[in-house]
Amino acid sequence: MIQTERDDAHNTNLDSCGRPSLRPGTPGGSEEPHPQAAGTRAYLRVRRGERRSDNEGIHLNANWYATVKGFFISSACWFFLATLGGLLLASSMVAPDIALYKNVSWLVFGRIRPIHTNMMIFGFVGSGLIGCMYYYVPHLVRRPLYSEGLGRLALWIWNIAVASGTVTLALGYTQSREYAEYIWPVDILVLVAFVLTFYNLLRTVGAREEKLLYVSIWYAFGALVFTFFIYFFGNAVWNPRTGAITGMPDGILAWFYGHGVVGLFLTPLAVALSYYVIPVVSRSPLFSHALSLVGFWTILMFYPHIGTHHLLQTPAPTWLKIVAITGSIGMLIPVFTVLVNLWLTMKGKLAAIHEEIGGKFVFAGLVWYLLVCLQGPFQALPVVQRVTHLTNWVVAHSHIAVFGFSGFIALGGIYFILPRIIGREIYSRKLADIQYWLLLVGLTGFFAVLTMAGLIQGSGWLSGEVVYKILPELHVYWLWRAGFGVLISTGAAVGLYNIARSLYGSRVSEEDQ
Ligand code: HEM
Ligand code: HEM
Repeated sequence: MIQTERDDAHNTNLDSCGRPSLRPGTPGGSEEPHPQAAGTRAYLRVRRGERRSDNEGIHLNANWYATVKGFFISSACWFFLATLGGLLLASSMVAPDIALYKNVSWLVFGRIRPIHTNMMIFGFVGSGLIGCMYYYVPHLVRRPLYSEGLGRLALWIWNIAVASGTVTLALGYTQSREYAEYIWPVDILVLVAFVLTFYNLLRTVGAREEKLLYVSIWYAFGALVFTFFIYFFGNAVWNPRTGAITGMPDGILAWFYGHGVVGLFLTPLAVALSYYVIPVVSRSPLFSHALSLVGFWTILMFYPHIGTHHLLQTPAPTWLKIVAITGSIGMLIPVFTVLVNLWLTMKGKLAAIHEEIGGKFVFAGLVWYLLVCLQGPFQALPVVQRVTHLTNWVVAHSHIAVFGFSGFIALGGIYFILPRIIGREIYSRKLADIQYWLLLVGLTGFFAVLTMAGLIQGSGWLSGEVVYKILPELHVYWLWRAGFGVLISTGAAVGLYNIARSLYGSRVSEEDQ
């Protein structure tokens, strides 16, 4: 087996404390060369200074990583397109009287909003995290992917789902439940893509040469299994006419799904990826394998039943609200086991982490995760929600969660894996840094102004102020939000260019030569 300085961090031999060992040269399973190690080998040659301006001499089979590459470019495209949707929404809130937003049916707020949210969740973040999973699962078990053909099929079905979901929403076909707006034929495509991915990765793991299943694999499979079920039930797929059930139970089901899609799809995949990237970029073994599994089982214990914290001000049963509130506080356990574990892994290594652009993005994502998960339990308290519920405070939380946490980690994974699958550096490190700062400044500003706007809304409405008095006060914050959105959109465009040139261009950029 080819051992590299970087890949050793995932060597799953245990040291005397029961942690994966980092001793150089310790066999990590089979002695047989891993076909996919070619990408890493070529990458390391580049790192050692034997940089190549093309692929000459690097015998990367065009078929390897086709699935990963496909998911990466899809993620970058959807990211850019979805930010355009976000800008449309933001500008229509600043100037709602513009004729375009009222007279063109597919541009009205109610249609663009679900296009934006679904494209971000499934198109951008989902594709990025799934693409990374197609890379790290085979690597961690030291087997090639069971079938690239099935992988590419899943990729196409996934993209057709997001594209057809977008078109049907623009035409006005919707299930009208948050994040479950796609109509049933699209739901079927999403489910098929999950089944294909699950089967392909299960067969890969089934043939594994590595005995110990590293924690990222637990999270990846947990996410695939849970997402399949929450998607199926949350979209009431057995009831295609409405994609819903009726009455209060439908509200409960919808939020079991709504929070599940971020908590049991995006969160475990983002955590899995962080567990993969952080030990490698900080060149340290994972602090504790046991702690990582505590985090895995507790997230499964708490997350599935906290969705009712979205419904605290509705006639949902009180016992369910109490379960949701206590579960939301309990979420601090899985969150902190992950963060403490990763923090102790990377302690003293911040400089090394920031040297690699992938590590830099993942690190920022973990800082957002800390903030999101301190804010989350806080806003699950009824006394807090009395002020914040149904205000821009929640929209601020959504953006630092879906974008700051899972989106940043997805981008980090893409930049971390890209050089390893193309056999050379990414097209431009400078552009990736520019993208990082555009996104970070854009999101921080976005979060700040929306939180302020939310507090103004909440306190105004709590003290009985009429809506038409509060609305003009919000205008300036929404203007700033649109401005910060432009930064994010520019960042997405820069990223798309950089990722496309890295994948399909044959040369490194001038500045990197
Ligand atoms: C150009 C940057 C962006 C702009 C201008 C923007 C704007 C918006 C707007 C105006 C809304 C509707 C808020 C409302 O109903 O009051 C929204 C919702 C949402 N956006 Fe964005 N967005 C941007 C980027 C993103 C990114 C990068 C993500 C995730 C990766 C994202 C995820 C969401 C989500 C999950 C919601 C639903 C929020 C909720 O219901 O609480 N957005 N966005
Ligand atoms: C400790 C963990 C977390 C807790 C306890 C928590 C709690 C909450 C609560 C109580 C709300 C509803 C606020 C309201 O409507 O008044 C909410 C909304 C939301 N959360 Fe979290 N959150 C957590 C982590 C996350 C993470 C990791 C993500 C994304 C990856 C996320 C994404 C969202 C989104 C998108 C919404 C808006 C839903 C909507 O459209 O109304 N949250 N969260």
